[in-house]
Amino acid sequence: MLDNLKKQFAELFGQENQNVFFAPGRVNLIGEHIDYNGGLVLPSAVTFGTYLLTAPNKDGVFRFRSTNFPEQLDIPVQDAYKKEGKEWFYYPLGVIHHLLQEGKKVEGLDLLFFGNLPIGSGLSSSASVEVVMAYALNELFNGGLSRLDIVKLTKKVENEFIGVNSGIMDQFAVTFGEKGKAIKLNCETLDYQIVDCNLGDHYLAIINTNKPRKLAESKYNERVRECATALQALQQKLVVNNLCDIDSETFHANKALITDSVVLRRAQHVIEENERVYLAAKALAENRLEDFGQLMYASHDSLKNLYEVSGVELDTIVEFCLSYPEVTGARMTGAGFGGCAIALVKKDAFEDFSEKIAVYYTEKIGYAPSVYSSEIGKGVSEL
Ligand code: GLA
Repeated sequence: MLDNLKKQFAELFGQENQNVFFAPGRVNLIGEHIDYNGGLVLPSAVTFGTYLLTAPNKDGVFRFRSTNFPEQLDIPVQDAYKKEGKEWFYYPLGVIHHLLQEGKKVEGLDLLFFGNLPIGSGLSSSASVEVVMAYALNELFNGGLSRLDIVKLTKKVENEFIGVNSGIMDQFAVTFGEKGKAIKLNCETLDYQIVDCNLGDHYLAIINTNKPRKLAESKYNERVRECATALQALQQKLVVNNLCDIDSETFHANKALITDSVVLRRAQHVIEENERVYLAAKALAENRLEDFGQLMYASHDSLKNLYEVSGVELDTIVEFCLSYPEVTGARMTGAGFGGCAIALVKKDAFEDFSEKIAVYYTEKIGYAPSVYSSEIGKGVSEL
């Protein structure tokens, strides 16, 4: 695959590429819609992601090309950039913009991107593109950024340049991921522990709903606002900075402070999900996969009924998993509104599972899902 990409690079730009970088996507094992509420999440990097081939040019121009999209951009090196459309290249362009804002120097580059993550499927294709770009520029122009600086910078790109108020989980997982491990991350302090992700005789299955995501960004921002409203209501009495500073006991004792029933349900999800992450990480570390699986199902239930970010497609997948004895746990992963679900499937049964879930889903939804078994890969690097 890489040889092919190198050939394409040479054909597109009339020169050989000099460097190749790779950033993965991620799955979140549990802890959904928690990062922007200052709690615990448990993501892992996957082995699919974004490849970036680069070579300097003498023209003082950034040339963006992708094998995934026809749109391309040639733009001179300048002091600042703005997002003016929905094209893919605004993600890496946003990275350049924010590096410039931090006083870093960059020069003209020829850039070829190739992604093998399903795009917009909740596996963080956008964080993968942002992080691979930031990492590459930092290496090529000696930016002096640490991995954590890269995480913070790319989050800023997503929040300020792209305009999605997402939390820090995706960029963190894509940057800090380790092979075979999950990251237990405290999104408030950014303290983290690397947890062995020993799935024993199970595969981690990723099931893509293949539902085109519409309105996902505005719905996402709506949830962020609802959580802010819940926090403000609780702060009338409680001295807390984040919803996740509150345990469920304190929450239930004070929930009358929240008068809007929708906002109340959102807060309940966040506070209980945060506690589930703690229990799930412990179960994983102690090889109690059955318990881990039950927490996954409970998480999905809460995302469906309290947080309302699932949908008939994701629910259909989890419904099938519940009825299939060789699945130990399943849930939607990522922001929701379509995208992917994950499931722990017994290795022996994986083929049968893939076939049967595809039939069940297609009958109910009207088109097929995609089913993969995924390895847990490492974070961004130069190849
Ligand atoms: C998206 C966001 C993350 C996180 C998840 C939900 O992936 O980018 O920051 O909020 O949704 O857990």
